[in-house]
Amino acid sequence: MGKPSETAQRTAFARAWESYLSAETRVCFDPIAKHLLAEEWRLAATTEEGRESFSQEVITPNPVLVAVWEYVVLRTRVIDALLQDYAQNGMAQLLILGAGFDSRAYRFPELVGKVKVLEVDDPDTQEFKKTGLSEHFGSLPDHVGFVPLDFEKHDLAASLAQAGFDRDLKTLVIWEGVTYYLEPRAVDQTLAFVAGHTPAGSSIIFDHILEQAIEGKCRNPLLQAFIQNVAEIGEPCKFGLDPEQVDQFLTQRGFGDVTNLTVAQCKEKYLQPVHADRKPIEGFSIAQASVA
Ligand SMILES: C[S@@+](CC[C@H](N)C(=O)[O-])C[C@H]1O[C@@H](n2cnc3c(N)ncnc32)[C@H](O)[C@@H]1O
Repeated sequence: MGKPSETAQRTAFARAWESYLSAETRVCFDPIAKHLLAEEWRLAATTEEGRESFSQEVITPNPVLVAVWEYVVLRTRVIDALLQDYAQNGMAQLLILGAGFDSRAYRFPELVGKVKVLEVDDPDTQEFKKTGLSEHFGSLPDHVGFVPLDFEKHDLAASLAQAGFDRDLKTLVIWEGVTYYLEPRAVDQTLAFVAGHTPAGSSIIFDHILEQAIEGKCRNPLLQAFIQNVAEIGEPCKFGLDPEQVDQFLTQRGFGDVTNLTVAQCKEKYLQPVHADRKPIEGFSIAQASVA
């Protein structure tokens, strides 16, 4: 087995770190994240000693990392809330694209046994996750199907058909923390799959990064530092969108009812006064649309 995605581990780490905080202060709660991390990451996120040395050695000298993590836990809170709304409104199938260590299939009781879940991800990352899930739960939960593939090389429709994806079920697609790591062509192909293979009334939620940042024209030094950092660890950003163009972009690709929330709008809508000191990195947005 090759190495799991570093960015997937980082996002799960951010959620495990956040989940250690009290219910009043945390932005999201993912009690499963820690079980999917490598041992050294788990100890750093969930022990007093580990947290103290991690704070001193990694967090304090690294404002970019902190700002990105603040965004990761914010987006998890937003998407968790949206998922719960969809679960109450007839969602019968959940497709998680680039799932990484997303634990929604296992931590929302409204899904288990009621909603068919398929997780798609890079094969090495998915194998690592499956090992963690088996160790934590004793076996792989049987309401979830796993589809290993590369969005840039493989045919999503064929792989999902083989895995039992049901084209007739009202589906929610979650594509969190992934679009920026893909070639524009793979983004288009994936959107075409969703628009063409799910029934009307199905929906997609995905986040995206500013197009300007991909082009190196963004004035936000934190965002440019993020782009440089992920390129250095071998997961370069390749795709971005102008938030003003999201509606047109998705309408042209077969979607309707488009909403797009910038980080500032997400903060305003989903955070509480107790979170006032949180400073998630600006330059990302969360889009939501339905299949027309
Ligand atoms: C930042 S992680 C996000 C993981 C998860 N969705 C979350 O929010 O915690 C990016 C994910 O995209 C996946 N990914 C990136 N490029 C991919 C590709 N070409 N094919 C399949 N998966 C890819 C990685 O394996 C990783 O799980």
